[in-house]
Amino acid sequence: MDIVFHEGTKQFHLFNDKVSYVIGIFPNGEPGLLYYGKRIHDREDYSYLINYEFRAMMVGKPDNEVFSMEMNRCDYPSFGTSDLREPAFDITYENGSRVSNFQYVSHEIKDGKPGIPGLPAVYTEDDAEAKTLNIRFKDELTGMELILSYTVMRDHPVITRNARFINGGDTSVRIEKAMSLSIDLPDRDYDWIQFSGAWGREKVPIERKLDEGITAVRSMRGHSSANHNPFVILKRKNTDEFQGEAIGLSLVYSGNFVTEAECDTYRTLRFMTGINPEGFSWKLDPKEEFQTPEAILTWTEEGLNGLSQSIHRLFRKRLSRGAWKEKERPILLNNWEATMMDFDEEAILKIASKGKEAGVELFVLDDGWFGKRDDDTSGLGDWYVNTKKLPGSIGGLAEKIHDMGLMFGLWFEPEMVNPDSDLYRAHPDWILAVPGRERSLGRHQMVLDMSKDEVWDYLYERMHSIIEEGKIDYVKWDMNRTISECYSNGTPAEEQGKVYHRYILNVYRLYEKLIADFPELLFESCSSGGSRFDAGIMYYAPQTWGSDDTDAVERLKIQYGTSYGYPISSIGAHVSEAPNQQTGRITPISTRAAVAYFGTFGYEMDLNKVSDEEFSEIKKQIAFMKENRGLIQSGDFYRLLSPFEDNYCSWMIVSEDKKKAVFAYYRILSEPNSAHRKVRLKGLDRDRLYHFDGSEYYGSELMEIGVEITEAPGIEWKTPSGDFVSGVFVIE
Ligand code: DGJ
Repeated sequence: MDIVFHEGTKQFHLFNDKVSYVIGIFPNGEPGLLYYGKRIHDREDYSYLINYEFRAMMVGKPDNEVFSMEMNRCDYPSFGTSDLREPAFDITYENGSRVSNFQYVSHEIKDGKPGIPGLPAVYTEDDAEAKTLNIRFKDELTGMELILSYTVMRDHPVITRNARFINGGDTSVRIEKAMSLSIDLPDRDYDWIQFSGAWGREKVPIERKLDEGITAVRSMRGHSSANHNPFVILKRKNTDEFQGEAIGLSLVYSGNFVTEAECDTYRTLRFMTGINPEGFSWKLDPKEEFQTPEAILTWTEEGLNGLSQSIHRLFRKRLSRGAWKEKERPILLNNWEATMMDFDEEAILKIASKGKEAGVELFVLDDGWFGKRDDDTSGLGDWYVNTKKLPGSIGGLAEKIHDMGLMFGLWFEPEMVNPDSDLYRAHPDWILAVPGRERSLGRHQMVLDMSKDEVWDYLYERMHSIIEEGKIDYVKWDMNRTISECYSNGTPAEEQGKVYHRYILNVYRLYEKLIADFPELLFESCSSGGSRFDAGIMYYAPQTWGSDDTDAVERLKIQYGTSYGYPISSIGAHVSEAPNQQTGRITPISTRAAVAYFGTFGYEMDLNKVSDEEFSEIKKQIAFMKENRGLIQSGDFYRLLSPFEDNYCSWMIVSEDKKKAVFAYYRILSEPNSAHRKVRLKGLDRDRLYHFDGSEYYGSELMEIGVEITEAPGIEWKTPSGDFVSGVFVIE
């Protein structure tokens, strides 16, 4: 890994074993992306990749008209000069003009990777793991400066980027758009895969061929959203799960975002991501700076599984932080689906104690323990313990749970308030709302104005005090409605375009402070399930509740889709009761667990209500997970059969040393006299002999011949008949 600067040509080559990223300073002083992709040899001069050509209607440099940014591959394209595709940034100056001319001034190359103050980012533990290049540009006319920052990681096929604007002039400017990353690729022969959905059906992979025009996903909801995810893949046509080239683009941000690909009519492609410019306008006074979030580019030639595995490794090791990032996650029991808000201390202790008997390690008390909170119409915001339900307060309950030998977790939804709450009655100006206009409600609640420091102070004081009182081990941080009517009371008109971003910065600041105060605390993010499942939140919360949809069949799709961009250890997955509360479907408890194993694992039901037979099966499931979670949460995950294409789903996880694997298949609906179905396993050592389902097979046999997953005889095991069946096998 290195970053080489070629003085004579002003070209930078960032590379590691897998990828190269070559930046050149163009004749007009702006940065160009000369190459990005598989590692290439270093050379002094890649100028042959700069285009000088004449085309009708093209505009170019006045002293050299054949140089036009439009005919070149830009690395951070500006608005309104010789390149009229989508710009990466857009600044309005005092005189109303929007044209900038950032010219190279200097650069520095450093070992390691500095953090981004106030924002989540990939990090290193040792400076030898990465190199960082900061290139400084200046717009002479206005004094505006731009620093583009690039990091190449030694052990990951990854380049990270961010941008910083500094107002070095003496008048205010307004930044209307500031992407985290923009790259131009020389051809547009890619398919685009986005991960879209809604509540209860998060992260469906949607694939389309790119063509002339703009393809984009975005959020305007104030959170990254279940509707579209800030992770997008570009893949070559012949790329499949197991081979071929692909690029993953992840934005490390949890607020409004846009990720887009623009194919121009010259068959080139621009790919960018950053804060959604809609609703964003940042007034930057002299000497002030604006910092974009980070974006991560991951490259592979090993297919979509290869891409996902690289992302999983990076996120597990160098994006998630803290005590829990690579630790085996506790098996939890959450009371939400068991009781909703209708509980008292006795009921909770009964549920927790049965969980302990089953082998659960963490009990989580969900919504309803505070304020006047008997249903979702009141109490939100009043973070004072409801002593009618919990007479011994949180401290009393926590002590009893801890005494059982369980960890204790608690639910919060800090960012919200019910109109029927003491908090709202005391501070009606603390919500996001436009004075004089109707305010939308969602789940009977309004959004607190997190951009206000006094709101932050209140939440910090309340959360800190409760976490301290209960010696809380785990916090489930929920966020159950989208932001609308985003207007901050008392904030000057010209600052209103900052509110969405400031909101997220203060969410991050609250996480950061609580993590500093309670470094052992495990956070699970949640937003009505997976509505804030993004790389930004993973920096603070190593796990996120995958979906409120706990139906095993639905979860196959949700977890399969989520696995493209996020590690298995980050996916909150629980076994819940049947019939399922979201779909009414009855699935066997074995299959419910077989799906939830591929996540953080836990139960979302009252174990007192299951039959003796089921309870003894649950005990075995917990024992299985304790035995295998180390591998499941840290191994290389392979998607084998897609539930989006088939009546079957299959996946497996292989340990880094390839000595052990866990393989699972699922057949959704029963098939009479079904055709032969074989799954070829992946990632094993060809020459190693593995124990599998009572026999021994070489890795080469399991991977080339595969295993039969129908009722037809194949390798010696059978799928039982019936709907929603599954099999989970440890291969050693
Ligand atoms: C939505 C979450 O996704 C659920 O798991 C639960 O915590 C409820 N909120 C509580 O209101």
